[in-house]
Amino acid sequence: MTDSKDKLKVWWDGQILNFNEAKVPVLNHSMQYGSGIFEGIRAYETQKGTSIFRLKDHVKRFFRGMKIYDIKIKYSETEVQNAIKTIVRENGFKSCYIRPFVFYYDDNIQLPTEGKMTSLYIVPLPLGKYIENNNGIRCKISSWIRIDSYILPVQAKASGNYINSLLAVKEAKASGFDEAIMMDREGYIAEGSAENIFVVKDDRLLTPSLDSSILEGITRDTVISIAKSDGIKVEERKIHREELITADEVFICGTAAEITPVINVDGINIGTGKEGKITKMLRERYMDVVRGNDHNFEEWMDYL
Ligand SMILES: Cc1ncc(COP(=O)(O)O)c(C=O)c1O
Repeated sequence: MTDSKDKLKVWWDGQILNFNEAKVPVLNHSMQYGSGIFEGIRAYETQKGTSIFRLKDHVKRFFRGMKIYDIKIKYSETEVQNAIKTIVRENGFKSCYIRPFVFYYDDNIQLPTEGKMTSLYIVPLPLGKYIENNNGIRCKISSWIRIDSYILPVQAKASGNYINSLLAVKEAKASGFDEAIMMDREGYIAEGSAENIFVVKDDRLLTPSLDSSILEGITRDTVISIAKSDGIKVEERKIHREELITADEVFICGTAAEITPVINVDGINIGTGKEGKITKMLRERYMDVVRGNDHNFEEWMDYL
């Protein structure tokens, strides 16, 4: 390793390892077949110290993903929450991104998982902006359709799901865009490669409902709660492609991406072609909430 990860400490099945000591077998199942389950969590610096935002909800989703694939680990949700806190503390981070990953620790080519052991590691790492260009990004509607329940469970953050996202984002970048927006097989808007999507229309917020082919994003839920607390109407329903193009504002959101304005889709400006006022307000409110400056949402703070 030559980059700054050299100094990272990793939690691995109860042990604290140096990043360079954390090695997996070359033929592990999850690397070959995409059977790893992961989470993406952020810790923020607050006035009361470091807080891991919505830690319990992230760990709950992590366990739901494992249940979907019948992956068993020897830790409870509380133990995983504590392990996450421990490793953030060990690294001395005030703010960071946290990647828990559960995978089959084996070294053979057998696809069936009966009898295979699982392992859990947790890597915290410094992360500023996940998507550069906070002033707004340009998106391409992907020619790749979002995976859906005919194919794979979209509610599991399984590593294999992300080769669908990867194709979409590769296509978008190769065509000169910043990010992809994926549609479902019925032609409705689904989500970004690793973000949920919101549309602002006549001061209302629209977002694909949970019966769509989307991950049930924790940021999506946070945004809905903040908007409702500010008296903004939120509609969760199917969204047509043309509603995106004719929207007043569009933004994508996720733990890594936070709230990122979308100012152009397929070369067409959204609204004024700049971040809109509702997006800006929600983005600022979101950052206040995660940094513990909004006491109405104190229950989402998990201090180290
Ligand atoms: C496919 C997908 N959709 C949406 C999201 C946003 O989810 P969250 O807000 O829980 O990070 C993510 C990020 O994890 C994702 O990978």
